[in-house]
Amino acid sequence: MPFYKRSRFKDSGFRRVLPLFLIIFSAALVFLILTRKGSIYDFSFRADEEEEEESFSFSSSLLGSDTQTLLKFGDFRPKLPKMNGIAISLEQRNRLPPRNIDLFPNLGKNHVKIVLYVHNRPQYLQVVVKSLANVEGIGETMLIVSHDGFFSEMDAIVKGIRFSQVKQIFSPYSPHLYPDTFPGVSNGDCHDKDDPSTSNCSGDADQYGNHRSPKIVSLKHHWWWMMNTVWDGLPETRRHSGHILFVEEDHFLYPNAYRNIQLLVNLKPKKCPDCFAVNLAPSDVKSKGEGWGSMIAEKMGNVGYAFNRTVWRRIHEKSKEFCWFDDYNWDITMWATVYPSFLTPVYTLRGPRASAVHFGKCGLHQGQDKISPCFDNGEPKIELDETDMVPNIKTDWPVYVYKKQQGYRAGFKGWGGWGDHRDRELCLIFAYMYHSMRV
Ligand SMILES: *[C@@H]1O[C@H](CO)[C@@H](O)[C@H](O)[C@H]1NC(C)=O
Ligand SMILES: *[C@@H]1O[C@H](CO)[C@@H](O)[C@H](O)[C@H]1NC(C)=O
Repeated sequence: MPFYKRSRFKDSGFRRVLPLFLIIFSAALVFLILTRKGSIYDFSFRADEEEEEESFSFSSSLLGSDTQTLLKFGDFRPKLPKMNGIAISLEQRNRLPPRNIDLFPNLGKNHVKIVLYVHNRPQYLQVVVKSLANVEGIGETMLIVSHDGFFSEMDAIVKGIRFSQVKQIFSPYSPHLYPDTFPGVSNGDCHDKDDPSTSNCSGDADQYGNHRSPKIVSLKHHWWWMMNTVWDGLPETRRHSGHILFVEEDHFLYPNAYRNIQLLVNLKPKKCPDCFAVNLAPSDVKSKGEGWGSMIAEKMGNVGYAFNRTVWRRIHEKSKEFCWFDDYNWDITMWATVYPSFLTPVYTLRGPRASAVHFGKCGLHQGQDKISPCFDNGEPKIELDETDMVPNIKTDWPVYVYKKQQGYRAGFKGWGGWGDHRDRELCLIFAYMYHSMRV
């Protein structure tokens, strides 16, 4: 060993030029990093311009600073799963222009774009789409429907929409699209509480000893893929400078939802400078609001929330926290890890009456959820008053702040379901896919 050490730089000439070489090399590296910083490699929406490989990898030495902070661990080499035929065709559909441009050629000035994310509950989606059709002002904006994979009934409902521009996108990495490979189940995967040391199977159990289930991880993957795609990938939205409103396939919107969101967005800087977002409904999904003559600032809710790009960047910086947290719920993950990491309270501003409501099947969660509207067949009974038809937030109202609220917070360990390194890595890859650098 001493011999080896001594002999390495035996050549004194080389030893003299070495520092110079190192300086030049570091300068070149810094230059590379600086010039690449902020450059966006649009992966999935450029595939028609270039011969594109379905999976790609990149070396961490070439990553920009945003990406580097995400990557500061181990030898993680991000690589998207190889797409199959269905996934490739969905990718191609993602590049189609929005529908109904003939009916709605112009978007409103300062419009708030709306993203509706859906999986496979056609009966619910029908209700939501009907509610959207009655939303005052919806024709001024673009509705982006993000599908968790492909279901023809869901597709047909969205294709039937005529009340605004509609852009449809499909997550090509939805587990159900992959019958026998990851992100679906692959041969040799552990199931349930298998012990890999005795069952010769692969996978990492979560903190409760359970192995991954594609059905369970699907929604968190889709939510994260959608967020990254909408803010940083999709040509229709990636330069949008205003707010984006997010709703789910079981959120009924009142006719005043869009006008109220516009009001809240405009009032936020003055009325609640500490607010990160605005909400259509209370964070307590069972509540319809207090009915007071004031606005309310409280913790972020998961029904009808809207925020801007500045907030998205803050969330995106916490990709590792989001992707590593052992909970399969995106919202609980946000409450327990991402928001607390901002170190200031993450308030949202809303009106005193809900303009959106979560609904469900009768009997499913009856115990805890009695107050939510429900339906067996047909439509949920949602009673609308006069005041739900018109903007009902007054610009001269004060703001009441809920300082201490119950619920998930920093320190919660998570419900599990998100222990497999493959899910964590796929999630992190979604955070990179529109920022990665050419190799
Ligand atoms: C374990 O599984 C692998 C791949 O599924 C297989 O090739 C190998 O033979 C198995 N080993 C035992 C001891 O069963
Ligand atoms: C986006 O919203 C945040 C939080 O309300 C605010 O601080 C920021 O100034 C907004 N950014 C832009 C570009 O309006």
